[in-house]
Amino acid sequence: MDYNFDQVIDRRSSDSVKWGYFAQDVLPMWVADMDFAAPPPITAALAERVQQGVFGYGLESKTLKQALVDRMAQLYRWEIRPEEIVLLPGLVCGLNVVTRAIGAPGDGVLTYTPVYGPFLTAPVNQGRTLQSAPLRTVHQGCRIRYELDMAGLAAACTPETRLFMLCNPHNPVGRSFTGAELNEIAAFCAERNLVICSDEIHCDLLLGTTQHLPIASLDPEIAQRTITLMAPSKSFNIPGLGASFAIIQNPTLRRQVEVSMAGIVPHINLFGMVAATTAYTACAEWLAALQHYLTANRDFAVRFIEQELPAIGTTFPESTYLLWLDLHRRATDGKVAEFLLANAKVAVNEGAWFGAGGEGFVRLNFGCPRPTLEEGLQRLRAALA
Ligand SMILES: Cc1ncc(COP(=O)(O)O)c(C=O)c1O
Repeated sequence: MDYNFDQVIDRRSSDSVKWGYFAQDVLPMWVADMDFAAPPPITAALAERVQQGVFGYGLESKTLKQALVDRMAQLYRWEIRPEEIVLLPGLVCGLNVVTRAIGAPGDGVLTYTPVYGPFLTAPVNQGRTLQSAPLRTVHQGCRIRYELDMAGLAAACTPETRLFMLCNPHNPVGRSFTGAELNEIAAFCAERNLVICSDEIHCDLLLGTTQHLPIASLDPEIAQRTITLMAPSKSFNIPGLGASFAIIQNPTLRRQVEVSMAGIVPHINLFGMVAATTAYTACAEWLAALQHYLTANRDFAVRFIEQELPAIGTTFPESTYLLWLDLHRRATDGKVAEFLLANAKVAVNEGAWFGAGGEGFVRLNFGCPRPTLEEGLQRLRAALA
């Protein structure tokens, strides 16, 4: 079946945060959702559920849990059991629940920066101490690649550190960490007896030949200290339906997380459950087509930047639909996104929101039809010429 990812859909009248937040003349390339319609089987399953007409409390779907068990085995040769899956209404919720579950007030939560903002706020929200180390940058022409800096991580870690939060694939720098890199992190955490919280929400947004490797799938011992967070929301473009999950194989850790959720975190929405189940059972072909389209968008955007905007540094993401752009040379008090909003009428995320190392950068979302991407890049070129 052919899917038309080039189709531009008007989202302005649909209560979309991405399209409704800024003025009409602004092209939004910020919030991490895509401008594509969800896979047709999801729309059909939701319509069928609506037709039934009764929207009472839902039961955790056994079909969904079995689909996840099958998926982990098939994609990663990772054997999990249905009872090791904890359903969650969102992954920011998951980050907060996990930081609340591990350690005690004042304990350290360690992460690499730059990183998705809630990694930096969740520990603070839960009375923990945020500890961070910068990823290392490697420059080649105008391309920037981010790598682990184990010495930096060791320097930021203290005897009070209890939890390491990993973002893999990484938002905003677009890395999918290799087995060797993940093994280094796992050894580091094992040596210091740290729990690992691995946010793998972008695990299906793989570009080119990239493969995803869950850190917990490396070996059963690592799995025992790991809480893996995943969701169909990014990959199948259903974040507004609020369906996510944690895989926690260690029963003690699972219990700690369940206690920290009790009475606060609601069950996942009925429609989210239908959409998630359909995503994992009937949308493989759509996902493959999406990956192909996003790969071409990445290649188009990076080529455009290299040829037309050589003063900008850019990542060449292995995964996600996010470009991380270095505009230091254009930085006006570090407020690059503000500059682009005013002068290019393009909304992107300010790099500083991603913590240390983000100043002078912006994050641009290329999960959109090619004509929209082209328009955004042309606007940047005109403003930065
Ligand atoms: C790494 C990461 N985690 C979590 C989220 C948000 O998840 P949710 O919308 O399920 O709260 C995002 C959204 O961009 C993300 O990039």
